[in-house]
Amino acid sequence: MARGLTLDSHSQLLFLMAGGLLIVGLAIVDSLECYACDSAENSECATRPGQQLEVEECSQANDECVISISAGLTRRGCLTRLYPNGYCAAPCERCNTSLCNRHVYPTDRLRCYQCSGAECIDVTSSPQYLLPCPVYKEGDRCYTNLYHLSNTMRGCEATNIPDSCPHVCLKCNYNGCNTEKTITESRCLQCTHNRLSPNPDCLRNQAESEDAQPRCSLDNTTVTHCVNRVMYGHRENCFTYQNTQTELVQRGCSTTMGFYSSGVVTQCHGEFCNANCQDIVCAACNSTADPGCRAGRNLPTEKCAAGTTACYSCEQDTFLRRGCADENFAPAGPGDSCQLCRDADSCNRYSVRSCYRCNAQDQDTDCAAMDLPSAMTTSNCSSPTELCVSTVVSRLDGIYTVRGCEGQVPECSANDPYCVRCNGSLCNYAPTLWRQTQVGLVTDPDNLPDNWWSLLQYWWSRKLR
Ligand SMILES: *[C@@H]1O[C@H](CO)[C@@H](O)[C@H](O)[C@H]1NC(C)=O
Ligand SMILES: *[C@@H]1O[C@H](CO)[C@@H](O)[C@H](O)[C@H]1NC(C)=O
Ligand SMILES: *[C@@H]1O[C@H](CO)[C@@H](O)[C@H](O)[C@H]1NC(C)=O
Ligand SMILES: *[C@@H]1O[C@H](CO)[C@@H](O)[C@H](O)[C@H]1NC(C)=O
Ligand SMILES: *[C@@H]1O[C@H](CO)[C@@H](O)[C@H](O)[C@H]1NC(C)=O
Repeated sequence: MARGLTLDSHSQLLFLMAGGLLIVGLAIVDSLECYACDSAENSECATRPGQQLEVEECSQANDECVISISAGLTRRGCLTRLYPNGYCAAPCERCNTSLCNRHVYPTDRLRCYQCSGAECIDVTSSPQYLLPCPVYKEGDRCYTNLYHLSNTMRGCEATNIPDSCPHVCLKCNYNGCNTEKTITESRCLQCTHNRLSPNPDCLRNQAESEDAQPRCSLDNTTVTHCVNRVMYGHRENCFTYQNTQTELVQRGCSTTMGFYSSGVVTQCHGEFCNANCQDIVCAACNSTADPGCRAGRNLPTEKCAAGTTACYSCEQDTFLRRGCADENFAPAGPGDSCQLCRDADSCNRYSVRSCYRCNAQDQDTDCAAMDLPSAMTTSNCSSPTELCVSTVVSRLDGIYTVRGCEGQVPECSANDPYCVRCNGSLCNYAPTLWRQTQVGLVTDPDNLPDNWWSLLQYWWSRKLR
């Protein structure tokens, strides 16, 4: 009995469930849902279907969802609500599953960048602005309208082309085509040089140009930059201004160029194009014809050939010459010691004396032998009459050769027997005695050279001090 009852209530339950499913199923079949909107009220109805659009439930059985366009406006909804007589004029799309009217229609509706303001100047990384056109029109075009330096408007011609568009307006006819950058930026070098505040980097590159670099140009890492902001279709330049009377040189961007009543302005177009080096004026003399040439006061000058960017001072024994280091310039020979300068006109007017500078204690093993003087470091002495010296000194860890200007080698004192002095630039190249002795010591300890004892005494006297 109990068992029969159980079966009975089971079958009742099953019957009830089946009936419920049937009702639910009928309800699903019955109520078609469609997106419902009108682009006259909400432009997203045309541009972003499916995003937060309202949904309606069609009231009639066997209804359809539609997307239709009339007079450029897009409408979505249940067919019988929008078109009670069931007729929807083309272009119109009908479908009969719930929410089937959610896509962009027609599927080839033109897409353009649509935005305005400063963020609209460059849209290459703003895909969120690329949308279907709100108003539909066959043969529509995208436009870009440039108002001024900080405002650009982009959109679809049929939707909202501005009245100002004939002026700076670009139109095009394929998806996403209105991407022209309306403002471009180009950089120039910006600097000022004048007599009271010299700026050598503004005149010419201070690094000696390598052979591979045919033309001298300013170094864009040591000179500051300025930026020309240029509207589409316009052109701005870089400029260089020079006034030889006032010794003023100015470089910069044409958008911020001042007014110059005299002097010469040259302009050019392109990134950092105003980088040309200024030609130089050099002191020109030699110590044979002009005794004042060495002291370097009130020297005659010459304007160098175009393209010259350095002046030289060369000294061979006691003969000194100065002039333009133009393309014909070369040292007179191996003994001719030359210094170049480029930081100002007549920069070669100062007195000159330089010496080989080294210390065998450093990595400079050639300091004692001087097999290759041309590879040796040189040093500018503090005075044009300073002597060059070399000597041998000892420290706790060994004996070394030292060379330099007299003032740089205090070990080279009056009672230093190893001190050798000479009067002339780069004259301190003689190999030192110690080097020969050292070789003898190492290779043949039984055969000590004559000066061995004195050197040992010298060494200990230094070491014990
Ligand atoms: C629904 O659409 C399908 C496919 O287009 C079609 O075969 C069917 O007849 C339509 N049904 C209704 C009720 O419109
Ligand atoms: C400087 O100029 C060189 C070549 O002219 C260029 O390659 C480089 O990018 C420039 N440097 C800067 C900071 O713009
Ligand atoms: C030195 O200068 C004088 C005058 O400019 C010139 O005549 C002479 O040739 C020069 N001497 C040398 C060796 O360059
Ligand atoms: C020595 O002086 C010349 C010119 O004045 C300069 O170009 C050069 O760099 C100086 N050398 C050193 C080692 O300072
Ligand atoms: C070095 O030579 C110059 C010119 O030849 C001379 O005037 C000067 O007196 C000499 N200096 C020394 C210390 O000998």
